[in-house]
Amino acid sequence: MNKSKIMAAAAMALTATALNAAQIKIETDDISLVLDGETGKYLNLCYFGEKIANTAEFGYAWHITQPDTNDQYGTQLYPAYGGRFFLNPALKLTHADGVLTTELVYKSHESRQVDANRTETVVHLQDKLYDASIDLRFTAYKAENVITQSVAFSHNESGNVTVENIASSYITLKASDYYLTHFHGTWANEMQLSEERLTPGVKVVESKKGMRTAQSDNSAFLLSLDAPAQEYSGEVYAGALAWTGNYKMQFEVDEAGLLHIIGGINPFASSISLAAGEQFVTPDMVLTYSNQGCSQITHNLHDWARKYNLAHGDLLRPVVLNSWEGAYFSFDEKVITDMIDDAAAFGVEMFVLDDGWFGNKFPRNGDNAGLGDWQVNKKKLPHGIGYLADYAVSKGMKFGIWIEPEMVNPDSELAHKHPEWIVQSGKRDLLPMRNQHLLDLTNPEVQDFVFETFDNVLKMSPNISYIKWDANRHADNVGSTYLGDDQQNRFWNDYIRGLYSVYERIRAKYPDVLIQLCSSGGGRVDFGALKYHDEFWASDNTNALNRLYIQYSTNLFFPAMATASHVSTSPNHQTGMMLPLKFRFDVAMMGRLGMELQPRQLEGDEKTFASNAVKLYKQLRPVIQLGDLYRLDSPYDEDGYCSDMYVSKDRSEAVVFAFSTVYHNRTQSYDIKLHGLDPAKHYMLTEVNTTSGSSYPGNGKVYSGEFLMKAGLSLPVGGAYTSMVLHLVEQ
Ligand code: DGJ
Repeated sequence: MNKSKIMAAAAMALTATALNAAQIKIETDDISLVLDGETGKYLNLCYFGEKIANTAEFGYAWHITQPDTNDQYGTQLYPAYGGRFFLNPALKLTHADGVLTTELVYKSHESRQVDANRTETVVHLQDKLYDASIDLRFTAYKAENVITQSVAFSHNESGNVTVENIASSYITLKASDYYLTHFHGTWANEMQLSEERLTPGVKVVESKKGMRTAQSDNSAFLLSLDAPAQEYSGEVYAGALAWTGNYKMQFEVDEAGLLHIIGGINPFASSISLAAGEQFVTPDMVLTYSNQGCSQITHNLHDWARKYNLAHGDLLRPVVLNSWEGAYFSFDEKVITDMIDDAAAFGVEMFVLDDGWFGNKFPRNGDNAGLGDWQVNKKKLPHGIGYLADYAVSKGMKFGIWIEPEMVNPDSELAHKHPEWIVQSGKRDLLPMRNQHLLDLTNPEVQDFVFETFDNVLKMSPNISYIKWDANRHADNVGSTYLGDDQQNRFWNDYIRGLYSVYERIRAKYPDVLIQLCSSGGGRVDFGALKYHDEFWASDNTNALNRLYIQYSTNLFFPAMATASHVSTSPNHQTGMMLPLKFRFDVAMMGRLGMELQPRQLEGDEKTFASNAVKLYKQLRPVIQLGDLYRLDSPYDEDGYCSDMYVSKDRSEAVVFAFSTVYHNRTQSYDIKLHGLDPAKHYMLTEVNTTSGSSYPGNGKVYSGEFLMKAGLSLPVGGAYTSMVLHLVEQ
């Protein structure tokens, strides 16, 4: 079958009388999600795709999918295990009387206009027999074409009900082929794109690390119908679970060729026993769709995140100098004030003091001691943090500082005082990772401690305006001394909910502080945590070549303005690779530019280049941070070229980045066609960020948007690790 979109394929062929009594339309400007419910019957998913005006015919679908006839399973919107349903379900309960099955049927729904852009629809489902119910909550973001879905379960049975599995969403699609793109990785190599054609059976992408869950694979995915995902054509769906804990995304191709995408909290070792009247609410699944390829997916998600799911998404991010790769743990006051002086001279706007500033009895001179003891190390920094923050401000910069408040080293005063706060599995030996243990955030006392750590650090100086929040291990051998013996399964869920409640308290008290989301690099890049943060550290790998791959994938979903991207020294500390400073800056300028090196190592021409680049970035950043990202050429196609561009919302300005990562033969030029410009506008092209002026023939010329998008440009980028940046300004 060729491209018969979404759902209930057989149903489409029928010509029965339409039944529209309970048709539920969840719509944005360009997307429709159409559901069909009738009291006492299964809730049917009729359609999810391009906006459709005439939805009357979808009523037919219901009649062939009702219970007691065949083949009804494919189109239930939120199937529970029970009845004839035999695929992986969205919901699995064990009722108070031990019954294993649940049959959810439509009860009612209501919609409300939250504001001009948002509509919330809640659909109430009810078990046929038991007093157990599910609320499906959809929020449609009109202009951004994003729909979020969460699920709430509650019951009034005579005893506890066990929730064994509760997905945030269950989407069924129908096409001839399905191509899944997901993003696997590891430390210093996050978000490696992998696209595969799905075959019958179940493909699972999941994390069971409890926290730092985005490092091995991200919950964000692309699903292309019929053919591999393209940038500017084809039907593509995207989803991302807004959750910082264990997740499970299942892609099940059934015997009828339907694809079922089940996404939510990972049920692994997490069954929850719920008393009557208690409610369990899942995190949001963030969904979007495009019939014009991945590019539109990115615009939808970036616009949505900047408006609704990123702190200060409308404000420009400062240029940062972070002390980590320049100083690691080896610094004193003089080293830091020198760095601040040098950063100020480069035009940097925010100095961030990374790890190593705390601990006295157990000084933090390496990663083996001090975590948990958040008092300034008096030997290294005798005048305290306030002095450094004031010093930065006196140089015209802002000041930020690193914390890792969920962790403790065994060698710390905290570990000795509160061994019971450490995540532990009964009497088993503790397993340190990076010499540290995880604090048990299911425990309200630990939540208070983590909040107070943040609070007390900020109280060290009114001039602290940025916090880098790190988390350098995941959870294993889990267990809690706070949770009862029969409650240990709650650990995974309650940890993340504890974390979120701390984030809430912090944001209530400190709405203006900039907070970076970091977890050994990109271990927590998800929409659940991002909501509370201004940016994330995409990877500890600062090597510009690797960053091209990491940032390409990351920015498919998560905004460039939130992608901290730092120029580091050469040879690179993670890879040993040597790359030109220009190449390193050009890559870092595609996100939130920063530097992470000892500034004194830059001398002469390099120093001048760096200050000019910082100055240039400040000029270009409104387009890069607040504009639309268009991918022109992927690094993953392995032709040794890649290119991205950013276009301002009014299409009056654009910035194009082009890279060659291998040596191409001398006669070859790099031909790219631009996107997103106004064909009727004319743009002055200037090559910027050059080391010694531009010899590019197009430099200083005016081109029409039409020419740039249809004929394109031939760029003299072909040497290994060469790059060009072009600035286009409407004339
Ligand atoms: C891991 C982070 O990703 C690094 O940027 C740095 O902050 C170190 N931790 C410090 O320990």
